[in-house]
Amino acid sequence: MKTKIIILTILMGTFLWSCSSKKATVETEAAVEAPKAEVAVVKVEAAEYINDEELGYGHTDLFDESTVEIPKFDYTAGAAGTVGNWERSFENAPPMVPHTMEGFVPIKAGVNACLACHLPAVATALKATAMPKSHFTDYRPAVVEEGGLYKVDAKEGQVVSKDLGANYNLARYNCTQCHAAQAKATVLIDNQFNPIFRAEEDAKKTNLSENIGEGVK
Ligand code: HEC
Ligand code: HEC
Repeated sequence: MKTKIIILTILMGTFLWSCSSKKATVETEAAVEAPKAEVAVVKVEAAEYINDEELGYGHTDLFDESTVEIPKFDYTAGAAGTVGNWERSFENAPPMVPHTMEGFVPIKAGVNACLACHLPAVATALKATAMPKSHFTDYRPAVVEEGGLYKVDAKEGQVVSKDLGANYNLARYNCTQCHAAQAKATVLIDNQFNPIFRAEEDAKKTNLSENIGEGVK
């Protein structure tokens, strides 16, 4: 009988202990979670919303373009050979097209007026700037297969440049992709960028081919 009572007491004790320890765990969890929920609620209440019509400089509905009017640009440049060049926007930036492009665009497969004056073979005679060396070079490394995986055929820090001779790189065919004409346009925000050229002549001509490895090698 005595042993029975002792066993019962132990069992009861264990039961009560497990109950209380469980409760304690629940309380701890609740205590950890509570502040999180509070913070989230405060954030939502404090949030302010900006109407989409006030987001951009245009003050117009961003989800409907039916009323948007693109202003007419005035391309005032004169004929090629009569205008001179613009300064580069920064060292080795693609130079802006200083002359009118009327009649030269759109560039199509097999029809590219730009080449007729800017290919090095004819440019000097026409007093046009010759397309630079970079346009006759392929900087893309070959892709090689190795065990079913493909990787570039170049070492870390290596600049791949394959001289294409007199053939321009077809990736340069669509000149107007990078060289843009200039127009008189109203700008809402003035450009504050002030380029720094390492040498004075860098504002007028490229030095890219000589420096292509800069920052890599
Ligand atoms: C009839 C010949 C001719 C054609 C066609 C022509 N250009 Fe030109 N381009 C020139 C001449 C000449 C200059 C030198 C600036 C000047 O006096 O007009 C020049 C200047 C440029 C410059 C400025 C170069 C620099 O160093 O700042 C760029 C860029 C250019 N042209 C791009 C083009 C593109 C792109 C096309 C085709 C859409 C094109 N050109 C068509 C003759 C031509
Ligand atoms: C992928 C962009 C890209 C395309 C396409 C491209 N160019 Fe360029 N071009 C440049 C950049 C960038 C420079 C200046 C750095 C350099 O030498 O590559 C440049 C420089 C030039 C220059 C000035 C060279 C000098 O000595 O300062 C001429 C002229 C020129 N490009 C003509 C052309 C013509 C013509 C075409 C089309 C047949 C063309 N480019 C296509 C990016 C491009």
